[in-house]
Amino acid sequence: MLLIVIPIIILLLHHYFNTIPPIFQTIFQAISVIFANIFFAIPISIILFIRDLGTVFFNKEKPVDPKIILITGASSGIGASLAKEYAKPGVILGLLARSEDKLKKVAEQCIEKGAKCEILKIDISNIESLNKALEDFDDKYPIELLFANAGQLAATRDNYGEVAWEDAYRPYIDVNYVGNIASVMTVYKRMKERKRGQIAITSSIAGWISTPTTAFYNSMKSALNSFARDLFYIAKPYNIHVSLIVPGLIETEMTAKPGQPFPHTASLYESADNLAKIIKYQLSCNVFHIGWPYFQNLINFTLATYPIRIQLLISNLMGNYVTKNGKNIVLT
Ligand SMILES: NC(=O)c1ccc[n+]([C@@H]2O[C@H](COP(=O)([O-])OP(=O)(O)OC[C@H]3O[C@@H](n4cnc5c(N)ncnc54)[C@H](OP(=O)(O)O)[C@@H]3O)[C@@H](O)[C@H]2O)c1
Repeated sequence: MLLIVIPIIILLLHHYFNTIPPIFQTIFQAISVIFANIFFAIPISIILFIRDLGTVFFNKEKPVDPKIILITGASSGIGASLAKEYAKPGVILGLLARSEDKLKKVAEQCIEKGAKCEILKIDISNIESLNKALEDFDDKYPIELLFANAGQLAATRDNYGEVAWEDAYRPYIDVNYVGNIASVMTVYKRMKERKRGQIAITSSIAGWISTPTTAFYNSMKSALNSFARDLFYIAKPYNIHVSLIVPGLIETEMTAKPGQPFPHTASLYESADNLAKIIKYQLSCNVFHIGWPYFQNLINFTLATYPIRIQLLISNLMGNYVTKNGKNIVLT
């Protein structure tokens, strides 16, 4: 009955008002999501599950095992853990970041495990030197797997050096968005000529929902989510596989530093080394969306499908919660 009545009400309202009056929009968004999930998303998910099950049992393809890997943001945290996870004899690692000393320490650990390492001391917001470094590395060692992983947490109240936070969108965009897109596109062009490769882009659960404490950061991660989905399609005919890595709360320099823009609840944080293991395994099977810790991802992903006004409520609650409990000032 509802299946017939609700669409008729929506059509009549739309006909008479030339739109759906705002007072009805939130409830209709919620109903629309339910309908779309029951009649489309769930049946299609079941079909995909059955298809994937077949692949798991009958696929004879060997897992992908890249030997030349370039990691941006390799001097600490997730990037450093990835470097150590992939390090073994026969593997060549390009380790890119700004801090040479930290990169050297990561390289030493990887060399101990048998890998060959090259350090690229580069600021990814300097596109010219970034592109040159990537092309020079790729000339010597054709990159098989790129991790576009470098990033900086941009708190809404944090200044960027001398730049006040209200004006700091540009440097943060240059690092978190432009620098990552530039890394990807430079390597993508080379992989396209070779007709093979893997590209993994690190986003965040912050890309699914908004916490006002990290407004610039969330929007750039959302943009990376969207970019990775589109590039997945564009790159496929060239045998280039694109993946989107969506970490939840991971214990790294980014989240451990005092004054971070959300209260630090130790039990919620997971280790970067464990994340690197999950990433390596799932990339070996060419999984597109690698989200871990899984339930943090699931919750944020679900919230992102809620009607817009409910998302605003969540954003408001999170802003207030963080301001009160973490003694952070969302708005200065
Ligand atoms: N930790 C989390 O909970 C979490 C959650 C979701 C997503 N992420 C994402 O995961 C990625 C890695 O972060 P992380 O948690 O491992 O933090 P991290 O330990 O602070 O590592 C960030 C890396 O990015 C590099 N980097 C920053 N700015 C750079 C620049 N301008 N040019 C070149 N390299 C630069 C840093 O090296 P230098 O400072 O030496 O340049 C460092 O190697 C980021 O994209 C982050 O947004 C993290």
